[in-house]
Amino acid sequence: MKIVVATRNQGKMKEIKAILNDVGMEVVSLDAMNIDIDVEEDGETFEENALKKATEIMEVCHEITLADDSGLEVDYLNGEPGVYSARYAGENATDEDRNQKLLKALEGVPLEKRSARFVSVIAVVFPEGGKIIVRGTCEGVIHFEPIGRHGFGYDPLFYMPEYDKTMAQMDSKLKNKISHRAKALQLLTEELKAVGTEQE
Ligand code: IMP
Repeated sequence: MKIVVATRNQGKMKEIKAILNDVGMEVVSLDAMNIDIDVEEDGETFEENALKKATEIMEVCHEITLADDSGLEVDYLNGEPGVYSARYAGENATDEDRNQKLLKALEGVPLEKRSARFVSVIAVVFPEGGKIIVRGTCEGVIHFEPIGRHGFGYDPLFYMPEYDKTMAQMDSKLKNKISHRAKALQLLTEELKAVGTEQE
């Protein structure tokens, strides 16, 4: 099965490709399809944004299209940055700027109040109609300083006590097994297999 993945985030693309290739799917990037449109992520939920992105790209390429919307929810900040995770420190900010802003927002907050989760919602839309939406989450706490050099985004601040590591200290093999995106992709592959079986 060929699937167009609607993301320009290289970190996400790598993770999605590794997991979908493992189950025998051919992953095609927007660049490979010569698609150069930006879909505005103006929804209030991860589901709305993922579905909007997948639908708009599918309408251009007429292939099965996958889009993910993800982010970090920090309980002490009432779920922020949430759907605004990518823009948390402004449009042209870097991962480091966002991590520093988050550390500042949590200044003086003790470990037991720093609970957070990564959320990944993946939508797949089919040209002949039909869609699949899945959600994966991964629980952790926001560390007091960034540690580690793997991954991307908020990974250096996302500490998982059961591994005694931040996500940026994990190699890609481990992250791809336990992350929010891995969980959503796992659910997705199960649903895609069910669709494949139905079509046989
Ligand atoms: P979007 O899904 O492209 O809107 O961006 C979500 C933002 O959430 C990213 O730019 C990252 O800052 C953050 N994010 C999403 N998934 C991860 C992850 O696996 N690790 C670290 N940060 C992430």
